Amino acid sequence: MILFLCSGFPQRVAVQKDNFRRLLRTVEALSDLGPEMTAERDFLQTARSIVSALLHAGGAREGVLFNYGDKPALLTSIAAEGFALMPEPAVIPLLPKHVHALASARGPVVLDSGSYELYLSSNGNVAPELFKCIVPLKVGSKLVGIVALGRREGDALYDEDELEALDLLCHYVALAIHNHSLTQTLAQRVSENLRLMASLHSFYDSTLEAFAAAIDVKHVNIHGHSLRVGRYAAAIAEAMNMEPGEIAALRSAGYLHDIGKVVVDKRLFGKPTSLDAEEFREMADHTVVGHQIVSGVQFPWPRIPDVVRWHHERGDGSGYPDGLVMEDVSMPVRIIGLADTFDAMTSDRPYRERLSLGGTLSEIVRLTPQKFDPNAVQALLVQVRRDTVGSNRTPFLQERIEANIAAADVDQLAASLQHKITHGRLFLT
Ligand SMILES: [Fe+2]
Repeated sequence: MILFLCSGFPQRVAVQKDNFRRLLRTVEALSDLGPEMTAERDFLQTARSIVSALLHAGGAREGVLFNYGDKPALLTSIAAEGFALMPEPAVIPLLPKHVHALASARGPVVLDSGSYELYLSSNGNVAPELFKCIVPLKVGSKLVGIVALGRREGDALYDEDELEALDLLCHYVALAIHNHSLTQTLAQRVSENLRLMASLHSFYDSTLEAFAAAIDVKHVNIHGHSLRVGRYAAAIAEAMNMEPGEIAALRSAGYLHDIGKVVVDKRLFGKPTSLDAEEFREMADHTVVGHQIVSGVQFPWPRIPDVVRWHHERGDGSGYPDGLVMEDVSMPVRIIGLADTFDAMTSDRPYRERLSLGGTLSEIVRLTPQKFDPNAVQALLVQVRRDTVGSNRTPFLQERIEANIAAADVDQLAASLQHKITHGRLFLT
């Protein structure tokens, strides 16, 4: 008995040493792979590290990592190492029987001349005979790829321990591949949606521009008014650092703000004297009528009906149709109200000539904060100043307005606005 134990001892030690070495190799590969898989880097680089770690763990000289796609059923190589001639990418189309066999395999499969055909077809650009061992990569029962290993060092066979190590590692590899393809699908969908949205946006924008032109065609005195209000409002919002979506929405709201004017008698737009009470009521009703029109429309931006109804409201409650005060209306409504006034003051009317740019800005500052929102007025001054020093890529002021004001005068107006809203008090910031 003692003799028997003694004679088996060196053998067992050798086996344990071997096992220990393989275990160490697997743990090493796992510790290498962990950070690789979670690092935010190019997936190709990660895939190369995965293949290296698998070769190390399986004692293989050649290996390739394939991704599986089911439409059509195809294995496509992501990274390879050691093979003398491996196409990039290597592709292997699969028949349903191959997919079934790979998805049903439990762990690594050692291939021989009789089993290639069961798992892989030879219709691709790589001969399946190159592979001596494959490990199907699965998440749940779903096939996501395979690892295919070629020859081992000294053409040795893959034994139980290597296969176990590979099996363990490939659970992680399968998750990495699956995550990558999910991320890719998501990125693809997001970019498709963005492309679709962009095309819809430009379609939407052009449609509303056409609509704005149709509103303003009512009378020569308001030609281009809605388009200009949309552009001014968007530029004011931009100077207030609003989100791009909000800026685009303000442009649309500007285009539509006077939509109710389609029902106003066009004679009123050309009347050379002030409107009488009856006429004024008809004109003022464009806000309520417009609100009725747009309330039935599903706009991507919910504030359009508010803008249409309240763009003639003023901070001190002197506006119409509801006599609201500043706090009652949202910033987009205040911005459109300001842009509308700015365009009206810088445009000729049958009963008065247009004001100069300086005169318009002085008047607006004079009426702030009683009538207009100071932050919006400040942003209007910022945009005008940018035009005066030529730093606006697209000029803020429309062609027909002369930027005949000096930057220093705009600064003076900004200072007096600041003085008004702080009531002359100084604040330490
Ligand atoms: Fe209006």
